[in-house]
Amino acid sequence: MCGIVGYVGKNNGVPVVMEGLQRLEYRGYDSCGIALLNGGGIELEKVTGKVSELMQTIAPRQMKSGVAIGHTRWATHGMPSRANAHPHISQDGKIAVVHNGIIENYKVLRDELENTGYIFSSETDTEVLAALICQAYSGNLEHAVREALSYVVGAYGLAIIHADEPEKIVCTRKGAPLIMAVGEDEYFVASDVAAILKYSKNVIYLENDEIGVITRDGIKTYSSDDEQISKKIHKITFKLEEVEKSGYEHFMLKEIFSQPQTIYDAMRGRLLPEEGNAHLGGIDHMTGAILHADQRYFTACGTSWHAALIGEMMFEQFARLPCEVEYASEFRYREPLVDAKSIVFAISQSGETADTLAAIQEAKQRDAKVLGICNVVGSSIARETEAGVYIHAGPEIGVASTKAFTSQVTVLSLLTLKLARLMGMSQENGKAICQSLQKLPENVEWVLKQADQIAEIAKLYSDASNFLYLGRGVNFPVALEGALKLKEISYIHAEGYPAAEMKHGPIALIDESMPIVAIAPQDKTYDKLISNIEEVKARKGRVIALATQGDERIKDIADHVLYVPPALSFTAPILNVIPLQLLSYYIAVERGCNVDQPRNLAKSVTVE
Ligand code: M6R
Repeated sequence: MCGIVGYVGKNNGVPVVMEGLQRLEYRGYDSCGIALLNGGGIELEKVTGKVSELMQTIAPRQMKSGVAIGHTRWATHGMPSRANAHPHISQDGKIAVVHNGIIENYKVLRDELENTGYIFSSETDTEVLAALICQAYSGNLEHAVREALSYVVGAYGLAIIHADEPEKIVCTRKGAPLIMAVGEDEYFVASDVAAILKYSKNVIYLENDEIGVITRDGIKTYSSDDEQISKKIHKITFKLEEVEKSGYEHFMLKEIFSQPQTIYDAMRGRLLPEEGNAHLGGIDHMTGAILHADQRYFTACGTSWHAALIGEMMFEQFARLPCEVEYASEFRYREPLVDAKSIVFAISQSGETADTLAAIQEAKQRDAKVLGICNVVGSSIARETEAGVYIHAGPEIGVASTKAFTSQVTVLSLLTLKLARLMGMSQENGKAICQSLQKLPENVEWVLKQADQIAEIAKLYSDASNFLYLGRGVNFPVALEGALKLKEISYIHAEGYPAAEMKHGPIALIDESMPIVAIAPQDKTYDKLISNIEEVKARKGRVIALATQGDERIKDIADHVLYVPPALSFTAPILNVIPLQLLSYYIAVERGCNVDQPRNLAKSVTVE
């Protein structure tokens, strides 16, 4: 998704902004640009393509300024092109705007502006903002921005400069993330902390409709009512190495291999093995409300939605608490049966997903209690929810979510354990679950040792056009997740199915060209899954089976077998997803795909 970086300070902001844009590349983009104030006016450069191309383009110009803004664009209104790339300049050449989000009423505004003679040079919604600010300007940029935004419907994170106020960036947000940061005699604005982490860990979070005014003298913030307010400075705890590849070929591979640690981090200080219980500081006080709620919902998108499906199964099986899972994008529009006696869990890695945020607003409007399960500390979802749990997976840079998924499921396991104990699960069973959770990092290490074998299998299947993933119970969401990973990064069509559903339709697709990934641990549906594999083999399908360590029988029927250690259903999805992550990774590498930044995708989807 689009990225914003801005700099005001004693040094040359151009390399700072360019480096920041590179650190935002992981979010996905198709064009980029930079604008700076050079004393005489605005200097601008934009390109379609990568930040490295922008760097090459500006290199001969030796651009230099203490005030600069930059942007990576992920096209929404208008094709990726130089004209549509940001920053957008007002007709008088004095204002430059970078924007994340969507202006929903841009067409009406554009028509009105055109009727007044304004000439647009792009197809974007953003250029309307440059025009409105230009019309409203009478010597004070922040006032002009405030007035311009009063006409606007939509979501935005914005950074704006004006040639007549050469030491200032004005920034604001609504529904799209934006932070400001304080360095030594230098200040920053960014849509993501990763962009400026090298320079500052002291961050200010802007709330909706607040305005930040950044000058060389510091940062001033104004409330939505235009009162000057003082904002807390938050200390970022993660390190720069966490947003670097550290010797791995891709962030995705680094993140897959970091899972023994990230899963441990998700549990650290939360597991009570002696008591056979768990403690989750952020929501312990809400457990009564969760137990006694009339309805419990999980809402999320994509991979987080798959984690939610596992949460639902665990809640119902172990805590005997009914709950439902809703796509966040559907929740808002389907008049959900939610009221003051409902609990809604919003699950999100980024904490910025627009659909999930909209679902939270919907639930809040209906007076439900909304809790968050998030990775990014201080993110919009973390702030919009009443209480919550962080998964502590650290920054996830690869667009395909991996470590966040296993940490989400780990946290959901802890939550289930806590609720199950309150609902009567014995201490003995609680202790067994704790032991299984404690062994997870070690077991994940064990699974990761099969990476080379998985890479070899990937070579055999990288030319497939379709894949089918089959699993039952908690492994059905794992099948969905395996299929999603493959689709996202290798562009191979893949579908996840509950294994027994195969005979109700998908079996028609099976022939020698269709690889099937069968998740077949030795649990209560093992024999049924073996029958499914036989059915596939009878139709010449090729089977990659995921089996329990020591299962020799499956070797006779599957073409390839990958093993995972025996596990309870609390930990099985976490172990089982790892070979599937690796399989999609190696297939994507074989196909020469851009693993960390797959086409058309964005790391956090901040538009509905
Ligand atoms: O940041 P979130 O967890 O809210 O993101 C939700 C989805 O956009 C995300 O999981 C997406 O499906 C990933 N690309 C999956 O790998």
